[in-house]
Parts: sequence; C-alpha cells; structure tokens
Amino acid sequence: MAKERAVLVDIADNIATVTINRPDKLNALSADVRREFVEILEDLSDNDDVRVVIVTGAGDKAFVAGADIGEFEGRSGVDQFHVTKSFGIFEAPDKFPKPIIAAVNGFALGGGCELAMACDIRIASDKAKLGQPEVNLGILPGGGGTQRLPRLVGLGNAFKLLYTGQMVKADEALRIGLVDEVVPHDQLQQRARELAAEIAKKSPVALEFIKDSVRASVRVPLDEGVRLETTYFGLAFSSEDKEEGVTAFLEKREPDFKGR
Ligand code: COA
Repeated sequence: MAKERAVLVDIADNIATVTINRPDKLNALSADVRREFVEILEDLSDNDDVRVVIVTGAGDKAFVAGADIGEFEGRSGVDQFHVTKSFGIFEAPDKFPKPIIAAVNGFALGGGCELAMACDIRIASDKAKLGQPEVNLGILPGGGGTQRLPRLVGLGNAFKLLYTGQMVKADEALRIGLVDEVVPHDQLQQRARELAAEIAKKSPVALEFIKDSVRASVRVPLDEGVRLETTYFGLAFSSEDKEEGVTAFLEKREPDFKGR
C-alpha cells in the first residue's frame, strides 16, 4: 500500500488548502512534513490558478503539536542544526509570494505555533490552544519563535509564554494579538475559505507587493520600508491590473483582475 502523504493539498476556486496530515501524532512536524510542506509551497508559488493558501491540520484536535519529539531523542547538536536549516518550513510562508492564512483548528504548540506565526493571518477555532512549550523539554524554540512571538504580542507576553511554556486559549491568544480572529470550531474552515475567497478576488500583483512591503516592515528601518513601498507603488502602475481596477471603478463594475 502506498504511504500516505504527510501533507495534503486541495485546490478549488483559486484557493489551495494545505493540510498537515498526521492526525494520530497531532500533526507533529516530522521530516516528511517539513519536506513536503516546502515542496508544496514551491509548486503553489508557480501555480497561477492559486491566489491564496490556507494552512490547517488534519483531524479535530490539532493544527500542529510541534516538532516531532520522537525525532529529538539522541540527535546531536550538529544534526539538529542541519535538520532545522535544511527544510526552511518556517521561512516558506514568509517567502511565499501570495497571501497565506493559518486556520488553527486545535493545538498549535512549539513548531505549530511558529508555523502559524509565519503565516500572514491567523484564524483560530475557539477550541485552539497555542504556546511555546519548548522550555519544558530543556530547549528553546528553533523555528523563529523567539523572534516572531515578541513582534506579534510584545516582549512581556512573549517572555511569559516562552519562560513558562504555558498554553493560551484562543480568546487569550486573540487578546494578546497572537491570532487575528476566533470563530466557533465548526465554522473555522468555512470562515478561512470566506476570507481567502475575498482576498482571491483582488489583484495578485497588488497582493504580492503588499505582502513584500508589510513583511519588510519588521526587517528594515522605516525610511527603507517606505522607499520599498514607493517603488512598488510606482511598479503597480505598470500592471494591467491597475488599468482594470481603475477602469472598473470608473465604469461602476467589479474588476476582473488577471494578475498581470
Ligand atoms: N511529537 C511527537 N508526537 C506527538 C507530539 C509531538 N510534538 N505531540 C503529540 N504527539 C503524539 C503523542 O505522543 C501521542 O502518540 P501515541 O498515541 O502514539 O502515544 C499522540 O500524538 C496523541 O497525543 P497525546 O499526548 O496522547 O494527546 P493529549 O490530548 O493527551 O495531549 C498535548 C495533547 C498537545 C498536550 C500533548 O500531546 C503534548 O504536550 N504534546 C507535545 C507538545 C510539545 O511539547 N510541542 C513542542 C515540541 S518542541
């Protein structure tokens, strides 16, 4: 029997849903998950039919419960360094040129919380629990948690989560800015699709420029970021989408953006 894929992808209506598929292990990030996830995002990056991506976890319990702790046992520091560096699962959503939404359907712990944080927007089920419990294992986050968490929730909240390893429920995650929206569990996928569909109607050219500019805002000084925005603003004027957007507005109709 063929081995089941560790990451599934389904494409419909310009939206790709990428599902981490190890529900019996709470979707822990094994080597297969890391490799397949990055490969899938690379493919979706080049697929013009896909305008927005949703990332979620299989089953009813977990988004991703972290790195696969089973793979940690006995692993040397050098091996772990290479594993972490090689796949770049936490950089992939950042570099991915299209909007990417995390639909957090349950536990998002350790690498799971880091994966959700690496996405552009986080919508959580009211059953979701998020946290960085690495300190309980005598280690620290290795997927950008110490960097992305304080940028989202501020230093104090980040220290609290990182020092204690405690999980927060969805409502508390919303309060501190770790997630952007909380919805009833059974409405999560529908809400994520609704938001994705709304975004998918916009100009892919504009979306890509917005993403790169906003991502730059946490990396570069303000004047450099504003300069980048100015460049993209000018560049956007050379797109067919800009002509379509402006014409549609003047003709009082919906625009039909082609991503050119
Ligand atoms: N890596 C590997 N396996 C994991 C895992 C992980 N991060 N998280 C859960 N699993 C496995 C469990 O070992 C168990 O497998 P088994 O049925 O073969 O024994 C299965 O997933 C179900 O998990 P279980 O612990 O029985 O569920 P629970 O509801 O009692 O507890 C959690 C849920 C999330 C609280 C608990 O699984 C947990 O603490 N996981 C580790 C979270 C973590 O520390 N992540 C950071 C890693 S750096």
